[in-house]
Amino acid sequence: MNGVVAKLDQLQDGQPAEAEAVIDGEAESLVLLRAGDRVDAFLNICPHAGRRLDWAPGKFLLSREGHLVCAAHGASFALPSGECIAGPCKGDALRRVDVAVQDGEVRLAR
Ligand code: FES
Repeated sequence: MNGVVAKLDQLQDGQPAEAEAVIDGEAESLVLLRAGDRVDAFLNICPHAGRRLDWAPGKFLLSREGHLVCAAHGASFALPSGECIAGPCKGDALRRVDVAVQDGEVRLAR
């Protein structure tokens, strides 16, 4: 494992994507969000009840305002902050994973 979680050119601007990564020895699902050359990453775990945010692997719901909506009970998260702005975990936030873009690859930043 060399910490590469995705290739930048596989990510669409503004469209959440799913990727797998090993973090602290655990296989984790991540949500990646690209904005130009920048990528934000979060654990694909909802702070409400710990469910995945996508309704099928890699299929994320976005509201008309561009918020990420948890498929389980509808919590809405502002992007790219990851803050829950509506729903059952309002005021909580997605857990951010530090990543860096280098040579067209998204890598874990540690
Ligand atoms: S688990 Fe996401 S809103 Fe309940």
